[in-house]
Amino acid sequence: MLGDPGFWKRKRVLVTGGAGFLGSNLCHALAALGARVTALDAMQPEGGANPANLEGAGVMLVRGDLRDTELHSLCDRIDVLFNMAAQTSHMGGQKDPVSDIAINAVAQVRLIQVMRTAAPQAAVLHASTRQFYGRPISLPVNELHPVNPPDANGVSKWAGEQYWMLENRVLHRPVVSLRLTNCYGPRLRIADARQTFLGIWMRKLLENEPFEVWGGEQLRDLAYVDDVTRAFLMAAEQASKPGVSGEVFNLGGSPPISLRDLAGAIIAANGGKGGFTTREFPADRAPIDIGSYHADDSAFRSATGWATQVSLAEGLRLSLDWYRDRMSDYVDLDQAVKA
Ligand SMILES: NC(=O)c1ccc[n+]([C@@H]2O[C@H](COP(=O)([O-])OP(=O)(O)OC[C@H]3O[C@@H](n4cnc5c(N)ncnc54)[C@H](O)[C@@H]3O)[C@@H](O)[C@H]2O)c1
Repeated sequence: MLGDPGFWKRKRVLVTGGAGFLGSNLCHALAALGARVTALDAMQPEGGANPANLEGAGVMLVRGDLRDTELHSLCDRIDVLFNMAAQTSHMGGQKDPVSDIAINAVAQVRLIQVMRTAAPQAAVLHASTRQFYGRPISLPVNELHPVNPPDANGVSKWAGEQYWMLENRVLHRPVVSLRLTNCYGPRLRIADARQTFLGIWMRKLLENEPFEVWGGEQLRDLAYVDDVTRAFLMAAEQASKPGVSGEVFNLGGSPPISLRDLAGAIIAANGGKGGFTTREFPADRAPIDIGSYHADDSAFRSATGWATQVSLAEGLRLSLDWYRDRMSDYVDLDQAVKA
């Protein structure tokens, strides 16, 4: 169990972005803990949405867009909102910043206004990102690091988070925002690199083809999805506690590792099978690249008692094993998202 069943039994929970990578993992965990879960998802084709993500979860999936769906009935008297829906593509945000801010900020304000009447007491757990710190001025990055978004998506995600934090400061709603590092694990999009480079690395490995490492010296502190799910559940269970309520926290993962060493680690996790090539970081992405990042998440650890439980080697092995029998669900996405 990733959370406390005594807390979650019969709780009414809404998970926005519930058919995506992190949202669906939360849905599985919440349903197993006895919560009554509704997942709202627009099934955006360019993100991590996949109907296969919710197979066997026992939750209700409502297909709808935060920008225009009737939200009152979905939010009515819920106890907890896990707010995972977002436009997550950095290049996508640069190409279409109007849609990016419409989802990540304007639709967030729409949801906030509905929540004021439909569920004024509900706790809100907001999925935020390390992205808007930009290229770190020092490592590890704590919550006092300046906000310096490198791209439009960083601006919209920062705005969305700040609107939610206002709900705490002005109306005293229990809100906690977790600024996530790169997450990985089962139910991640692996068809291509749109969700993370690790997705396409896993696909190539599982298809016995070499993958590409861009650069190689950049550091990352990858978070395994069960650790991330547990962090959200623990934050929700303590969302009314002073020192947790109204806070933004960084959430990191395993100790920092260079992408070159990570490539070696994932091949080792694949039983030593596989190979990779390295190439220069592509010129069109370089201006929005943040270089190395790893989080100082000591504030979250001491406020909630959270700690990672899954090592990088174990998380990579569990991830690869999970996809082996499910490749068709995760590779042929045109079919999957339309289904
Ligand atoms: N996965 C990571 O490494 C990571 C890192 C930092 C932050 N985050 C944040 O965590 C959250 C979840 O990320 P994820 O990796 O699960 O992404 P994801 O793309 O797998 O999930 C997001 C889901 O939101 C849905 N969605 C998008 N726009 C919507 C809209 N207008 N209405 C309703 N649903 C909509 C998508 O269809 C998708 O299923 C996001 O807010 C993201 O910014 C994730």
